[in-house]
Amino acid sequence: MKIVAAVLVLAFVTIPVTIAQQSSDQTVSIWGGVFTREQANRGRFAYEGACGFCHGSRLDGAADDPDQRSAPPLARAKFFREWEGRSLAVLFELTHSTMPEDNPGSLTDGEYADIIAYMLSVSGAPSGEAELLPNPQSLSRTVIRQQQ
Ligand code: HEC
Repeated sequence: MKIVAAVLVLAFVTIPVTIAQQSSDQTVSIWGGVFTREQANRGRFAYEGACGFCHGSRLDGAADDPDQRSAPPLARAKFFREWEGRSLAVLFELTHSTMPEDNPGSLTDGEYADIIAYMLSVSGAPSGEAELLPNPQSLSRTVIRQQQ
């Protein structure tokens, strides 16, 4: 009787854990509402302060500052073609370690996540209930896709 009880307890303990692990392995696309509207708004201010003069206020790579050489677009079709299939963790890492080009790594992790949220929102991706967190696990689950 004790053994049966122990097996039952084990089953109840292990099944939910297994399910949780499976769902954390699944990926979502950037079209699944992976940032909040408020976060994208914060990202806009950070972007305008640190990125816009090179990547352009329309995020199309046409520099706002005429003395800057042009930079790659950070939104819409051309950006998506370049980044299709890669995770936000890759984008976050590259941005964090190399941008802003004149002062890499100078923003907080949260500001980089906010800016990525803003880039996605400019491309038309919908906002959702939860913020995009600047941690490798959740960023690596979110994949850039050109279409929904
Ligand atoms: C001083 C100009 C300048 C500033 C400021 C700047 N960038 Fe860049 N950025 C560039 C240039 C130039 C490249 C291309 C670098 C290369 O290909 O070697 C680039 C490349 C990138 C890329 C890679 C794009 C791709 O598709 O390969 C990302 C993402 C990016 N920047 C994001 C940002 C963000 C976010 C900020 C603000 C935090 C920022 N950049 C600020 C000039 C700038």
